[in-house]
Amino acid sequence: MRILIATMNAGKLREYERLLADVPGLELETMASVAESVDVIEDCDTFVGNAKKKATEIAAVVGMPCLADDSGLEVDALGGQPGVRSARYAGQGATDATNNAKLLDELRDVADESRTARFHCAIVVVDSDGHELALAEGACEGRIGREPKGAHGFGYDPLFIPEGFTETMAELGPETKNEISHRAKAAAKLVPLLRRLQQP
Ligand code: IMP
Repeated sequence: MRILIATMNAGKLREYERLLADVPGLELETMASVAESVDVIEDCDTFVGNAKKKATEIAAVVGMPCLADDSGLEVDALGGQPGVRSARYAGQGATDATNNAKLLDELRDVADESRTARFHCAIVVVDSDGHELALAEGACEGRIGREPKGAHGFGYDPLFIPEGFTETMAELGPETKNEISHRAKAAAKLVPLLRRLQQP
């Protein structure tokens, strides 16, 4: 089975190749290997909605099965924000640094015990006609620290302290992250679904 990953990013392709290694006969490709470029507007109010939209619209253009994901940070004290707006939380031209600064500012009066949060990831696989083949979600629980720490990862990693740790995700580094991340957990749930699809 050949599946297109809805990304131009070779790093994400490698990550999924590792996460889905237990699906026999699966060949993954990125958008870089197809001629078309597809601009999908991620305007749904759920991670699943955005992942489905991305997978369906891209499958329609490229005519092959497609895997898309959507992820972000949900902070309990902010009613689940930034959520699906995680990438652009600080507004137009937001960067990881401005997003993190805004998050710290919003939480400045929030006590340590109320700074709980989670990274959430939804992965959707559709066939070449856009019919849903598999859907999986995963979460990584933790809390938001008081200042950015660590140099690994991206996004909110320097502020996110996973449950059971005292360091931020950016201090822990990729090996630990790849075991506990929202994407890893969602992908682990996806594996049996994809394996089942391949059975005659
Ligand atoms: P995407 O859907 O994977 O592109 O993620 C959207 C946004 O959520 C990113 O721009 C980050 O701000 C945030 N985010 C998603 N996953 C992570 C993560 O593993 N670490 C830190 N931030 C993340």
